[in-house]
Amino acid sequence: MATDKAQTWVYSEEYAAEREAVAAAREVAVELGAEPVTTGVGATLRMLAAVADARAVLEIGTGAGVSGLWLLEGMSPDGVLTTIDSESEFQKHARSAFHAAGVPGHRTRLIAGRALDVLPRMAAGGYDMVVIDADVSETPEYLDHALRVLRPGGVAVVVHALWHDRVADPAQRDADTVVMREITRVLGETEEFVSALLPVGDGVAVAVRR
Ligand SMILES: C[S@@+](CC[C@H](N)C(=O)[O-])C[C@H]1O[C@@H](n2cnc3c(N)ncnc32)[C@H](O)[C@@H]1O
Repeated sequence: MATDKAQTWVYSEEYAAEREAVAAAREVAVELGAEPVTTGVGATLRMLAAVADARAVLEIGTGAGVSGLWLLEGMSPDGVLTTIDSESEFQKHARSAFHAAGVPGHRTRLIAGRALDVLPRMAAGGYDMVVIDADVSETPEYLDHALRVLRPGGVAVVVHALWHDRVADPAQRDADTVVMREITRVLGETEEFVSALLPVGDGVAVAVRR
């Protein structure tokens, strides 16, 4: 009997093994309610950071550090992850998770604050990769900042781009779904980006700045 899509999806989600330190951070994240990226999304972030040989990554939405740990694994060994979150309590756990995973302190810069207050201070053209996983309603503004702070050839990533499988269903018209549907449409049409929409986890939109 042919393997069905659901089985294939589970197989690919579980393809990459999660290190013990990441699995421990995931447990904490779930307890806190800081929804972590899936293992498949984590592996995708790690791969993209490696392809970009990323030395400077900007993450919007630290949570308890699960996505950050995956990114750090793929980045250049001297790369620095700058990560923003409005919840300092979540960042406290992320800091512990980075420490427990053996990440040297100089490789992470955790900034507590609301993304739209912090982002204007980020250097134009200073980043190889921007990962967006925070307030869905603000995602269009995060993307404007991403376009500004990414170097040419840099990668923007929007997590949850298929928003609980609702984006693909035109009958779903709640606010978050509409935002994500619009984001994926704009990324596909914007001249400045070369984009793809990956059906991994809850959907990952990837766009390379020309
Ligand atoms: C889905 S969680 C991020 C999970 C994280 N990327 C991971 O995989 O471990 C979303 C995070 O965005 C943060 N957040 C929500 N609105 C924000 C805002 N306006 N500015 C900064 N952070 C925000 C939340 O506090 C939460 O930690």
